[in-house]
Amino acid sequence: RAEVVINGSSSPAVVDRSNESIKHNIQPASSKWRHNQTLSLRIRKQILKFLDAEKDISVLKGTLKPGDIIHYIFDRDSTMNVSQNLYELLPRTSPLKNKHFGTCAIVGNSGVLLNSGCGQEIDAHSFVIRCNLAPVQEYARDVGLKTDLVTMNPSVIQRAFEDLVNATWREKLLQRLHSLNGSILWIPAFMARGGKERVEWVNELILKHHVNVRTAYPSLRLLHAVRGYWLTNKVHIKRPTTGLLMYTLATRFCNQIYLYGFWPFPLDQNQNPVKYHYYDSLKYGYTSQASPHTMPLEFKALKSLHEQGALKLTVGQCD
Ligand code: CTP
Repeated sequence: RAEVVINGSSSPAVVDRSNESIKHNIQPASSKWRHNQTLSLRIRKQILKFLDAEKDISVLKGTLKPGDIIHYIFDRDSTMNVSQNLYELLPRTSPLKNKHFGTCAIVGNSGVLLNSGCGQEIDAHSFVIRCNLAPVQEYARDVGLKTDLVTMNPSVIQRAFEDLVNATWREKLLQRLHSLNGSILWIPAFMARGGKERVEWVNELILKHHVNVRTAYPSLRLLHAVRGYWLTNKVHIKRPTTGLLMYTLATRFCNQIYLYGFWPFPLDQNQNPVKYHYYDSLKYGYTSQASPHTMPLEFKALKSLHEQGALKLTVGQCD
């Protein structure tokens, strides 16, 4: 039976040198990687003990009503009221109900994607997940275009859309939302109090302009459940990143999982500089102590799963 060692000893190929990018070299190489079906199924089963992506991907209409009070997950003392707009946009049934896909791509936002030429390969997967409304059009050769689910942390509205200060920025966001064209827009609305107005703005825009997206708002227990799963496997993450959340959810409905754009290090495997995001000028300091994330630790866990064939990480060029 397949054993899963998520935070076990490193493979012999990993030499402990001071240079981060050498330390994180991905083995086996792309061409030698083989999917381990038994292990993938075992991981799915283990994760199902903590959460069920089909249910936890979104709160459903039947479970809340306008005016209900919700305590933020990370700010338990702060509350929000379920607005009429939010209620309107809650799905009636899970957007993942009975969904199963042969292969899924999860596209992280690292600059390692630039010049990767991975666009076509990414778009060939049955289900493509992207993070934080990252732009695709201008980067299609490297990141592809297909989007079946895209996440949107409320902070994106501030970082990428200037908090919608004027009509130009509102229009930009609207265009981006229209371009989603029926895909799932996954908004963690109940995580932290800071996002309250931003979520409301987006909800309002979607309703007012009849934007064709399927909105989803993750369940209140998802974060803790995901953290619980990884802690049980000795991966001591502070707060799971969007990318890790997506992988954990995807194990439920994807047979094979391919990760692109996961590389939280400033140098690539050939010692060339790598941008933190492929599309903006956010710096690496962002992942420092002050950040709630522990990306390099997450990466180590994902790399170990890659080595065992449970997922495939691509951190260089696509063939
Ligand atoms: N990621 C990565 N290496 C980077 C940048 C991102 O591995 N240099 C992965 C992370 O898993 C991350 C995902 O790509 O969650 C999406 O990137 P980003 O939009 O920066 O996500 P978060 O850090 O989760 O978003 P936030 O800053 O709003 O918490």
